[in-house]
Amino acid sequence: MLVSAKEMLDKAKAGHYAVGQFNINNLEWTKAVLKTAQELNSPVILGVSEGAGKYMCGFKTVADMVKAMIESLNITVPVALHLDHGTYDGAKACIEAGFSSIMFDGSHYSIDENIEKTRELVATSHAKGISIEAEVGSIGGEEDGVVGMGEVADPDECKMIADLGVDMLAAGIGNIHGKYPENWPGLRFDALDAIQQKTGAMPLVLHGGTGIPADMIKKAISLGVSKINVNTECQLSFAAATRKYIEEGKDLQGKGFDPRKLLAPGFDAICATIKEKMELFGSVDKA
Ligand code: 13P
Repeated sequence: MLVSAKEMLDKAKAGHYAVGQFNINNLEWTKAVLKTAQELNSPVILGVSEGAGKYMCGFKTVADMVKAMIESLNITVPVALHLDHGTYDGAKACIEAGFSSIMFDGSHYSIDENIEKTRELVATSHAKGISIEAEVGSIGGEEDGVVGMGEVADPDECKMIADLGVDMLAAGIGNIHGKYPENWPGLRFDALDAIQQKTGAMPLVLHGGTGIPADMIKKAISLGVSKINVNTECQLSFAAATRKYIEEGKDLQGKGFDPRKLLAPGFDAICATIKEKMELFGSVDKA
């Protein structure tokens, strides 16, 4: 069932667990997330970056594929189709294309411009029953070998953006996209606590879910995180399983080159990673 992310996240915040956002890249990825969520009776969010949207032939193709797959696989758990780190134009395009949730990442604008654009997109998305995530502070990450630590969000700015009526709020708390460097100092729980004190019932979003140790994930959930984004970890498990299949020469045996066989170990690996995350996040049987 395709739904906005609002209700599932409000329930998660009240119930002290988190819903996973798993980014999708193609049909196999989408099927892996949907089937695992159904099997575990868990709500789920499919994340689509603008790059992945382009790769999959546009947002409309993605929305139509997801809707059709929910129907043909008889998926009854709540599923949100969410734009990840959307630009202003990308957010508008996804609202038109049939997404049920969007993220507008205005964190690189001045706080005034972030507020102005977020306010407009809150009105546009809510008019169509679509949920919206905003971001304050930046999520670090690696680009061309340079690791940025990200900018820790200011609790007062978080409150200003939360008050615009967004449904979920991403706040930079020392989290990073991709693998964490050896010398990563960990999440800033002091900042997270200050943010949750100011924003009350607002579900908070933790980006960069790949590689955060289980105890830090649990602590973050106890401090108000209700949505956790995971992307790289599924890519790594897919790649490792596919590499193993090829290295063992399985593609050279019989019809092992058939893409439905070649991609199967990677598919199973994505399912296993998602299952592990849903169990850790506490969303199993919360559909
Ligand atoms: P990772 O790739 O580090 O899991 O981050 C995912 C994410 O935050 C997507 O917005």
